[in-house]
Amino acid sequence: MTKTVTKGASRRQFMTGAAATAGMAAAASFVPTRFAIGAKAPVKVGIMLPFSGTYAMLGNSITDAMKLRIEQAGGRLGGRPVEYATIDSEWTPAKGQIKANKLVKKDRVDFVVGPVHSGIAMAMSKVLLRDRMPIWIIPNAGNNLLTRDHCAPHVFRTSFTNWQSAHVAGELMAKEGVKTVVTCTWKYAAGIQMMEAGKASFEKAGGKVIKEIWVPFPDVEFQAYLSEIAALKPDAVFSFYSGGGAIKYVKEFAAAGLRDTIKLYGPGFLTEGVSRAQGEAAEGIKTALHYADNLGTPEDNAFRAAYKKAYGKDPNVFSVQGYDTGSLLLQGMAAVGGDVGARADLIDAMETATFYDSPRGVWRMSKSHNPIQDIYIRRVEKGRQISVGIGAKQLEDPGTGCKMIA
Ligand code: PHB
Repeated sequence: MTKTVTKGASRRQFMTGAAATAGMAAAASFVPTRFAIGAKAPVKVGIMLPFSGTYAMLGNSITDAMKLRIEQAGGRLGGRPVEYATIDSEWTPAKGQIKANKLVKKDRVDFVVGPVHSGIAMAMSKVLLRDRMPIWIIPNAGNNLLTRDHCAPHVFRTSFTNWQSAHVAGELMAKEGVKTVVTCTWKYAAGIQMMEAGKASFEKAGGKVIKEIWVPFPDVEFQAYLSEIAALKPDAVFSFYSGGGAIKYVKEFAAAGLRDTIKLYGPGFLTEGVSRAQGEAAEGIKTALHYADNLGTPEDNAFRAAYKKAYGKDPNVFSVQGYDTGSLLLQGMAAVGGDVGARADLIDAMETATFYDSPRGVWRMSKSHNPIQDIYIRRVEKGRQISVGIGAKQLEDPGTGCKMIA
């Protein structure tokens, strides 16, 4: 098991020295026009998430739950009504910069919420790190860089780093007696970083990765790779796929007969939100993730019931991340009475926000603004992600410190 990695985060540590000067300069140059017009003018929240393509389910889950959380609190942020400007991020980084620029320059949003995809996050960062405004909340994309070298005072993540659950899933394989592994994933930042993390913890525990198979994103033609895996005969396969692609991959893995002799593991995205569609093929698959369907806490029960009532379906980890994004917005804006111009105070309130009522369990922001959270080991049973234990308690990404904003 991974030990708790907490470094006694000193809040606002990366606001010291040159970074603080840069942050203050950004704050000083920030013109709080809307607040000056009137405290009752709407707060503008830009949403840049996938509503088409392989990750559409993820984008919808995040959006629905974020709106639910804000509605539950009366539909206002810091006393102000909320207006959403929504853009389909689509599924590749190509238009990421243009779309983020539109939210900032044309829609003049106060907050940007997005994206799902780690490559799109890097494209957006070209706009959002350059101008250091508006405040950016990442409700999924796990790209390690954004809360490591590239972290910044106005950037917050409510989800995970690609390292976190992959690290625990790698340990899990070793613990379950797996000796040889083939990795098979989409080749872009998320897949690359997750395979790297899983491979490192698995090999540290004595296992061996014998082959790395890379599939172009978002291709779903898996047959040739599955034949290669069958010929290699590893003990297990370690994979990152998500959304529509994960449905097809898990089904074809089983249909190719591999489930009988080769175990399938991965970060929990492999089955999250899609295990019912995967059906029998997903049953018994073990993964690691920061949420499960049977946590049974009063907070999670209330959230699951409210989500089901509002949208007619069960939530998933992406909904939880959206819900907590709503909580982060509510707490930040409450602290400044809706004045987004009070930027230093707003950032301060967001980085010290508490998440005692999160459906995933208690978590807090690390000093580089990434969740320090429990990672559960889950097993798919009758289409549900059942927690069978905690793989790592209050796991913090081993961030290497902020190097960009200095
Ligand atoms: C990512 O690109 O960072 C990503 C996408 C989908 C997931 C997890 C991570 O389920």
